[in-house]
Amino acid sequence: MDPKIKKSRVEYWPEILDLYRLVAQVSGKLARTSEEISGEYVKTFLKKSHETGLSLIAFEGMNIVGEIHAYKLEPNVFSHVLSELTIAVHPDFQGKGIGKALFSAFLTEVETRRPDIFRVELISRESNKKAIQFYSSLGFQQEGRFEKRIDSGNGTFEADIPMAWTNPGFKHAKNK
Ligand SMILES: CC(C)(COP(=O)(O)OP(=O)(O)OC[C@H]1O[C@@H](n2cnc3c(N)ncnc32)[C@H](O)[C@@H]1OP(=O)(O)O)[C@@H](O)C(=O)NCCC(=O)NCCS
Repeated sequence: MDPKIKKSRVEYWPEILDLYRLVAQVSGKLARTSEEISGEYVKTFLKKSHETGLSLIAFEGMNIVGEIHAYKLEPNVFSHVLSELTIAVHPDFQGKGIGKALFSAFLTEVETRRPDIFRVELISRESNKKAIQFYSSLGFQQEGRFEKRIDSGNGTFEADIPMAWTNPGFKHAKNK
């Protein structure tokens, strides 16, 4: 598939809300459950991504079938980092190249237009093997393990895996 990738706009929040709720119905992927995904949650991540980071959406025809976003954390010591990265592709459209198209566009945008960003970071639960393999293929490196960080909901806990990608287009403000 060859989705149309665009920067998101805050007006798209209802469609993005539907997308995230649907994706969260499959347990063990996103950190939040469907019930924990609200309009406020979506509007807040869109606002933060528009202010300091990036949010892209994938369209198939008129429908939003995927979204990716990340933004800066507040303390200034993190001003070279895009964090809290989340990506979601509509369940009926997974495994068709949409996630790869979205994520590649995201990293290209950071590399070519965001010299202020040195690092893009994310965390994925260890059992989400497909996602971890996908991030490795894009150049993300595993940086350790947060043991027993995820409550699997069945009386067991699993590790959360921190990963990061380094931006070849980074220019330190002092060297600009
Ligand atoms: C993870 C996710 C974003 C990937 O998007 P996608 O559109 O399904 O993925 P793509 O079709 O673009 O495939 C990307 C890569 O994923 C891997 N992949 C895809 N389908 C796979 C499968 N069924 N099994 C194993 N790996 C698979 C491959 O490495 C593929 O790369 P390749 O094309 O070089 O082989 C998407 O499946 C999703 O939204 N999952 C649920 C939410 C989630 O887990 N989000 C991440 C939270 S950290």
